[in-house]
Amino acid sequence: MCSHYNRFKTYLLALVFGVSSLALSTQAYAQAPDAAQIEKGTAVFDANCKQCHAIDEVVVGPALRDATKRWPSEAAILNFIKYPQKTIEGGNAYAKGLYDKYKQFMPNHDFLKDDEIKAVIAYIKNPPAKVEEKKTDAAGAEGAAKEAAPADNGVITYVLAALVLVLFLVLVVLGLLVSVLTKYLNSNTEGLDEDDKEVISQTLGFDKFFGSVAFKAAVGFVFFIMIAKAGYDKVYSVGIHQGYAPRQPIAFSHKLHAGMYEINCNYCHTGVYKAKSASIPSVNICLNCHNSIKTESPEIKKLYSAVEKNRPIEWVRVHNLPDLAYFNHSQHTKVGGVECQTCHGNIQDMEVVQQHSSLTMGWCINCHRETVVKAEGNAYYDKLVAMHAKKSKEPMKVENIGGLECSKCHY
Ligand code: HEC
Ligand code: HEC
Ligand code: HEC
Ligand code: HEC
Ligand code: HEC
Ligand code: HEC
Repeated sequence: MCSHYNRFKTYLLALVFGVSSLALSTQAYAQAPDAAQIEKGTAVFDANCKQCHAIDEVVVGPALRDATKRWPSEAAILNFIKYPQKTIEGGNAYAKGLYDKYKQFMPNHDFLKDDEIKAVIAYIKNPPAKVEEKKTDAAGAEGAAKEAAPADNGVITYVLAALVLVLFLVLVVLGLLVSVLTKYLNSNTEGLDEDDKEVISQTLGFDKFFGSVAFKAAVGFVFFIMIAKAGYDKVYSVGIHQGYAPRQPIAFSHKLHAGMYEINCNYCHTGVYKAKSASIPSVNICLNCHNSIKTESPEIKKLYSAVEKNRPIEWVRVHNLPDLAYFNHSQHTKVGGVECQTCHGNIQDMEVVQQHSSLTMGWCINCHRETVVKAEGNAYYDKLVAMHAKKSKEPMKVENIGGLECSKCHY
């Protein structure tokens, strides 16, 4: 009976480890070096090149499909991407021809590492099959699509972690079974054949040790912890973009405009005191000044070329709540009297806008629990304040006017 049990145990262990190594190899496959390189290239491209280039379409610069074939070597194209102006002025005839055609310098990319540029080149060599861009200015949809990718990865890791957890539990149960059975048989050795006796009385050698359930369980456990940690990190970072500071198509500086020149926020963000959305300024607002200021600057010329081509500047959206949440600017800035800086940080000191707050539900709720409603001078609140004062000595918080009700923030 015991030798059967022993064999059964071996089969189960083999099965368990077969499945775990399968799980491991799927993950390894998903990170094959080439695919990773292209994926990295896509990210670098989206962050640095997309505003001026598409694969199959002329944007500001040429369409990049087969661009690598137009250059003699990878080193040559890498050097051009890094120092275009130098290459053109250095007398490279092909580059000069490009410049004559597009009449604009591509900016230097010496801030990128060589392996980042190589990744972009890999992406250009292996572009998506079809034209990927739907030409809408719905930056929101684009952001959502970008978020979907990491979410998928998170789910895969989660499933793997769950799988390994189940395997680990199987191991623990097996371990317990073995010790219980061994104890039972030890106290009850009559009627067993030689084989079985040997199994029971075995001592712990190296072979036995590495084959032992305890050892395998320990390995399984460490493995499980590693996977679980990876899953945890992924899942908890999905959708949170605190610190996100994408490179923008024009080097617009809040530090210069809102800081040094003290232009009011709502001069550009015209909706911020009267609408749900603060809104991003159109080119026309910039041209109020830049029709005459810095007209020779290459950055400002991008404004003129946008007007000529009649396309909006494709600012990369920084803050983006998921669609399921409702947030209204005027309610907070005008009615609530909350300063921009409370939520957005010191924008007037930022060269490049960065997401200051987490924008999670917990963040909204915490502030609603702590913040006193600005009720003076607002007749709408007089009754509410009087009612609240009857019930409590505490000042009236956002919480008390329904700021924690699900339906206020979720449709
Ligand atoms: C501000 C606009 C702009 C940005 C950003 C930009 N480019 Fe360009 N790119 C151009 C222009 C314009 C040209 C045409 C050459 C010229 O006039 O300098 C060009 C040319 C090129 C060429 C040569 C194409 C050919 O047909 O041989 C490559 C390759 C290229 N860019 C890659 C990149 C990569 C990679 C990035 C991002 C790391 C990038 N560019 C970012 C504007 C831009
Ligand atoms: C001269 C026009 C101008 C002024 C003044 C200005 N902004 Fe902006 N703001 C922009 C432009 C253009 C963008 C989009 C490009 C960027 O993110 O840098 C932007 C982006 C932002 C964003 C990020 C939007 C997103 O994509 O999520 C915030 C937040 C912001 N501004 C807040 C402020 C605050 C607060 C002030 C006042 C202290 C201010 N801005 C003043 C033009 C302006
Ligand atoms: C109320 C006037 C005003 C508005 C509106 C305005 N700017 Fe400016 N901008 C300035 C001033 C002033 C400077 C600094 C000029 C200087 O350094 O001599 C400047 C400088 C710049 C520069 C730096 C140029 C360089 O090469 O040094 C950029 C880029 C720029 N603005 C982009 C924008 C954009 C994009 C918008 C629209 C979202 C905008 N500006 C709206 C007044 C304005
Ligand atoms: C109570 C917090 C809070 C305050 C105060 C606040 N914002 Fe925002 N802001 C947000 C949130 C949250 C988003 C993201 C909204 C979304 O994705 O729907 C946002 C987005 C923006 C955007 C991107 C465009 C948009 O409307 O989605 C701009 C620009 C902006 N804020 C400017 C401002 C300015 C200027 C002020 C001050 C006058 C201000 N904000 C005050 C929380 C705040
Ligand atoms: C810095 C503090 C702060 C943060 C952060 C904040 N709020 Fe508020 N919120 C307020 C204040 C103050 C009011 C009260 C305004 C008023 O008097 O009507 C308010 C009111 C509201 C209301 C109306 C509640 C009611 O019962 O009338 C909604 C909805 C709301 N906030 C949504 C959000 C969402 C969604 C977020 C997060 C994305 C958020 N808020 C983040 C301070 C904040
Ligand atoms: C003050 C505004 C506010 C209130 C009140 C609020 N939520 Fe949210 N909720 C948000 C915001 C903003 C998000 C999106 C940010 C995030 O995912 O963390 C969100 C996200 C969610 C999500 C999606 C979570 C995810 O990870 O995708 C669920 C589910 C949810 N809320 C349920 C509720 C329920 C149930 C209540 C009532 C008990 C409630 N919320 C009250 C602002 C609010």
